[in-house]
Amino acid sequence: MSSTSAWIASSACLIVTGYLLWERICKSRAEWIGELDKLGQPRAQKLSGSAIVCGGSIAGIVAARICADHFENVILVDPEMNKAKTRILQYNAAHAFLSLFLDGARRLWPTFDNEMRAAGGRIVPADLQLHYSGVALLAPYSEYPSGGLPRSLVLRRANAQDVLQKLLLQGPQSVNIAVIDGIVKNVQSTDKATIESLTVRKLDGTQISLNPALVVDCTGSTQAGLKWLRSAGFSIPDDIRHSYNASLRYVTLCFTVPNALEVRLPIPEAAIGTLAVYTYIEHYKQTSCFIALIKTDNHTMQLILGDACDGPLPRKAPEVVPFLSTFQGREPIPSWFLEVVTLLCESGNPSFDIIKIPAQSYVQYHNIPKGALPSNFIALGDANLQLNPVHGQGFAKSILNGLTLSSILHAIDSRANSLPKDFSTRYFKKSAPRTKSLWDATRLHDYGSSTCEPMMGETKNTGRFIRWFELKMISAATKDEEVASALWHVRHMLAAETVLFAPRILWKVLVTPSLF
Ligand SMILES: Cc1cc2nc3c(=O)[nH]c(=O)nc-3n(C[C@H](O)[C@H](O)[C@H](O)COP(=O)(O)OP(=O)(O)OC[C@H]3O[C@@H](n4cnc5c(N)ncnc54)[C@H](O)[C@@H]3O)c2cc1C
Ligand SMILES: *[C@@H]1O[C@H](CO)[C@@H](O)[C@H](O)[C@H]1NC(C)=O
Ligand SMILES: *[C@@H]1O[C@H](CO)[C@@H](O)[C@H](O)[C@H]1NC(C)=O
Repeated sequence: MSSTSAWIASSACLIVTGYLLWERICKSRAEWIGELDKLGQPRAQKLSGSAIVCGGSIAGIVAARICADHFENVILVDPEMNKAKTRILQYNAAHAFLSLFLDGARRLWPTFDNEMRAAGGRIVPADLQLHYSGVALLAPYSEYPSGGLPRSLVLRRANAQDVLQKLLLQGPQSVNIAVIDGIVKNVQSTDKATIESLTVRKLDGTQISLNPALVVDCTGSTQAGLKWLRSAGFSIPDDIRHSYNASLRYVTLCFTVPNALEVRLPIPEAAIGTLAVYTYIEHYKQTSCFIALIKTDNHTMQLILGDACDGPLPRKAPEVVPFLSTFQGREPIPSWFLEVVTLLCESGNPSFDIIKIPAQSYVQYHNIPKGALPSNFIALGDANLQLNPVHGQGFAKSILNGLTLSSILHAIDSRANSLPKDFSTRYFKKSAPRTKSLWDATRLHDYGSSTCEPMMGETKNTGRFIRWFELKMISAATKDEEVASALWHVRHMLAAETVLFAPRILWKVLVTPSLF
């Protein structure tokens, strides 16, 4: 062989190896999917003391269930565990649950499916029937033949949360969990290394002090942990909380749909039994933002309409269909959908729930300098990261955070009886790439819309390249099953974003001209 051909052969070999390695890295299973195996498994010898979970909504329920596997005791503090929920703004807003939520919840509660079904829930293929600017995105049905598309849950949020709360407090794993109806007021630390005590004001006005082995902030959009730490004297940098304003409002219409009405609705067979009946996402450059119809539990259906704050949201049934006609995408909303909504508005007696969505925010605990955070403090759910809700990530995000917590608890030496000194740092360090990728993807997408106010230090131009890439990727996902599948898995948090950069996917995306 001449030296030139040897050179060509070895370069070719290098390129092929590089290509295979690139593909392998990008397509490797997301780390958190591997962590599902240990989720819900108790450790042999429990850590001593009490994990105190502040806030008993979805993140608090998940955190308390996981802590019960690892600590002698768990105390859940929330003022509204045993009464109507008034502190959760979106309690009655329509919710869709992504597939990772179901996967995680099933590990935590083996009877999850049965209990949810008994409350009227359905476990269905996780197909949101997504249409971007009117054009349908493919879902990976052919990759999961014979109806095997991964599942998710449909149930109104309030009902789902009710069942979760019952599972948490009455299930076989609940023996070491106690509830205090009250508000966590503040925390105390003399050595500035750990939180030594925490003050709770009970509903009757009395105050008690608790000594936590671990404090878990699950206070949702209040993000109370940040205030507790600052007022206890921890030096938390001023710029740790990032925030931008997607300027959105949401209206949820809930219809009553008895069988006699349901049979009159011209919904295609393939759409009635999936996670949503139809979802329309407006091109981000338009002001109107999205529509979704979900067949929920107990003869109800929910229609969600989202819009920029300055737009006119419908408040009465006759205003709904005219509002839908303001959506002018690349392809029109199908006529069957407009007919369905017309019938529902006429005969489904809709209730209206209008919400102004609070600004999006991310408390970047992982950027707090080493040693400045107490070792026994962590935050899960919206208390850490509050996303634009359009992508329906809240419940799956609680599971994602829960997987992080569960895996670092399982990694603690089985003979240890207390937390390591760097527990908090370990948690936020492992969690950071997961939360950051959700924050970046949703934030940079939102910057494309005319009404969004970027976070400090960024402009509407930030992320332009990503938005250009996103439009090409969505375009490819309307035609190519492999690209659509990658996007679908990332959306449902079943894969890491790296799958989108595997060589074949990247190539296909780059050569696809944008439809939008
Ligand atoms: C309009 C809208 C639509 C959404 N749609 C979806 C969707 O389709 N799918 C999805 O998965 N997610 C969706 N989300 C997001 C989801 O609702 C949130 O991510 C989720 O509620 C966050 O749960 P959490 O437990 O972190 O906080 P929250 O649900 O906000 O609960 C916080 C809890 O903390 C308690 N609390 C507060 N302060 C204290 C204190 N000092 N002491 C003790 N307790 C305290 C409160 O009483 C409350 O129970 C949507 C959000 C909005 C706004
Ligand atoms: C829904 O229906 C189930 C029976 O299928 C019932 O047990 C449950 O209480 C109902 N829930 C609501 C909120 O009406
Ligand atoms: C977000 O923007 C909307 C519309 O401009 C405004 O009404 C709202 O008050 C803003 N929210 C915050 C927290 O700045």
